[in-house]
Amino acid sequence: MLKIGDIEIKNQVVLAPMAGVCNSAFRLTVKEFGAGLVCAEMVSDKGIVLKNEKTMNMLYIDEREKPLSLQIFGGEKKTLVEAAQFVDKNTNADIIDINMGCPVPKITKCDAGAKWLLDPDKIYEMVSAVVEAVEKPVTVKMRMGWDDDHIFAVKNAQAVERAGGKAVALHGRTRVQMYEGKANWDIIREVKQSINIPLIGNGDVQTPQDAKRMVEETGCDGVMIGRAALGNPWMIYRTVQYLETGKLMDEPTVREKMDVCILHLDRLIALKDEYIAVREMRKHAAWYLKGVRGNARVRNAINECNSRDELVGLLNSLAEVEEEVIVG
Ligand SMILES: Cc1cc2nc3c(=O)[nH]c(=O)nc-3n(C[C@H](O)[C@H](O)[C@H](O)COP(=O)(O)O)c2cc1C
Repeated sequence: MLKIGDIEIKNQVVLAPMAGVCNSAFRLTVKEFGAGLVCAEMVSDKGIVLKNEKTMNMLYIDEREKPLSLQIFGGEKKTLVEAAQFVDKNTNADIIDINMGCPVPKITKCDAGAKWLLDPDKIYEMVSAVVEAVEKPVTVKMRMGWDDDHIFAVKNAQAVERAGGKAVALHGRTRVQMYEGKANWDIIREVKQSINIPLIGNGDVQTPQDAKRMVEETGCDGVMIGRAALGNPWMIYRTVQYLETGKLMDEPTVREKMDVCILHLDRLIALKDEYIAVREMRKHAAWYLKGVRGNARVRNAINECNSRDELVGLLNSLAEVEEEVIVG
C-alpha cells in the first residue's frame, strides 16, 4: 500500500496538482471517482505569509477530499517555512508538498519551482528546514532536471530523502522541455531504485493501460495523472479499476459526462460566485466535450455564456442529441 508518512493512500492513483484547475470543486469530483490522493494547485508562499485574500481562499479543503496534498512554492527559506507552518496549523491538508517543477519564468526567476533542480544542496537545506518546522509529512514534486545537460533527478530525490521528505513525485521531463517531447520513464525507474521513500511516477499517462505500464516498467509506488483527467474524472476511476482488477470499464456516455460537468459547475459556483465560476468553467466544459458528437456546434456559445442556466442548457442540448440517436 502507498503510505506517505503516516498517511495511508487506498490505491496508487494520484491526481496531479494543476494550477487553475485543482481547486476543491474539481478535486472533490475526482475524489468521488476513486482517486487515492488528490493534490491541490500550487499556492505561493508569499501569498500565504501576506494573508492575501485570494491565496487564503485557495487553502479551502472539503473534508471529503482527504487525504489531500497541498503544494506550496517559493524560493526563500524564511517565507517557505512560514507558509508551510501556516498550512500545517491552519488547514486540514494531510501532506505539504513543495513545488520543484514549475517551469514558467515568472516562478523560476524568483528562484522557485524548477530552479531548485540545479542545486541538490539547496534542496536538502530547504526541505530540511520545512520538515523541522512542521508536523505533517513533507513531499516534493519535481521534474527530472533543468535541461538535458543538468539532469540531477537521482541526487535531487536523494537530497529530499536525506532531508526527511516522505515521498517524491517525478515528472519525466526537464524544465526546458516544458510539455514538449515524451516523458522519460527510464529516469523514473532510476530514481525509484535509488531512494527508499515512495516514488510517484508522472508524465504522459493517458490511459489506464499507460498507468499499468508505468508501474511495471518503473516500479513506481504511485501513478500521478494530470492532463488525462481534465474533463475526464472517469480516467481516474477506470485506472483504479484497471490496476486493481485488470478490467477496463466502459467510457462514459455523453449524458454521464454532461451530468458530471454540471455537478462540477455547481461546486465551482458554491466556491466562487456564479459569474467567475461560469467563466472558469468554460475551459473545463471544452475538456468534458472532447470527442462528444456535435461539440463544434456549441463551442463558441460556451465561450460566451455568463450564467449557469445558459451553460447547463448547452450541455443538456448535447446530451439530448445522443439520446435522440439512441432512441432513433
Ligand atoms: C494546467 C496545468 C497546471 C499545472 N499546474 C501545476 C502545479 O500547480 N504544480 C505542479 O507541480 N505541477 C503542475 N502542473 C504539472 C502537472 O502536475 C504534471 O506534472 C504534468 O501535467 C505532467 O503530467 P501529465 O502528463 O499526466 O499531464 C500543471 C500542468 C498543467 C497541464
